[in-house]
Amino acid sequence: MTSRSQAAPAGYRATWAEVDLDRIASNFAALRALAGREAAVFPVVKANAYGHGAMPVARRLASEGAVGLCVATPEEGLELRRGGINLPLLCLGAVDPLQIAAAARSQIVLSLYSPHQLKLFDEAGRSSGIPVRFHLKIETGMNRLGILPEELGPLLDELRGCRSALLSGLFSNLASADRPGEASNAEQGARLTEAAAAVRAAGHDPRPMHLANSADSSITPRCDSMRYGRGCCSTGSGPEPETRVRASRPRSR
Ligand SMILES: Cc1ncc(COP(=O)(O)O)c(C=O)c1O
Repeated sequence: MTSRSQAAPAGYRATWAEVDLDRIASNFAALRALAGREAAVFPVVKANAYGHGAMPVARRLASEGAVGLCVATPEEGLELRRGGINLPLLCLGAVDPLQIAAAARSQIVLSLYSPHQLKLFDEAGRSSGIPVRFHLKIETGMNRLGILPEELGPLLDELRGCRSALLSGLFSNLASADRPGEASNAEQGARLTEAAAAVRAAGHDPRPMHLANSADSSITPRCDSMRYGRGCCSTGSGPEPETRVRASRPRSR
């Protein structure tokens, strides 16, 4: 067990969560086994590792052999760096222009999900002298953040002139991961594969390429990397029994 809340403020009931890091480690091992030898697993430790404690969870996952971690914001990545986490970090969510250089300085890989960001990344990389690495997020059907198919060609053309913004991976997000049989999953996979071909044709390596989250690791295409969040930390997030081991218990006096 790792964490217990501080004393409750006056007037509040003493309520805390007991977190079992051994369970997080065993969830991670189970998810790695499901992902198979060919896919790297990047645990998602966003939102304070889903409330389980970003630092203790990240440290434990690092000691269990995680090859990298995902966060939602640059702030979360910076917190991990301050705590001594040296693993590759990918920020999946939005980045403010003022955060770009600081993130790159701390070797946090950013997501590029809108065409206007390329210029910002390149400028930040040029003026700080530290190239800004990014994974390109493709809009394949989630209808949230991502580069639209018609935006990809012009973006790859623009990338040719950028020396300080470096494409370092490719990904997308499933809209119906919790319904593995859904046709839209395969359609999203096909769109990501098409984008990978365009990226390759433009002279870039689209790997690591990632699509699946905890809900299902069998989604095709089987990418070379997987992003697992709730499956590592908590419960009920996947069809596979291995991903349903609860890592925390609420407690109240
Ligand atoms: C882009 C992206 N990938 C993966 C995850 C992890 O999802 P899950 O917790 O369902 O595994 C998240 C979580 O928000 C996400 O935003």
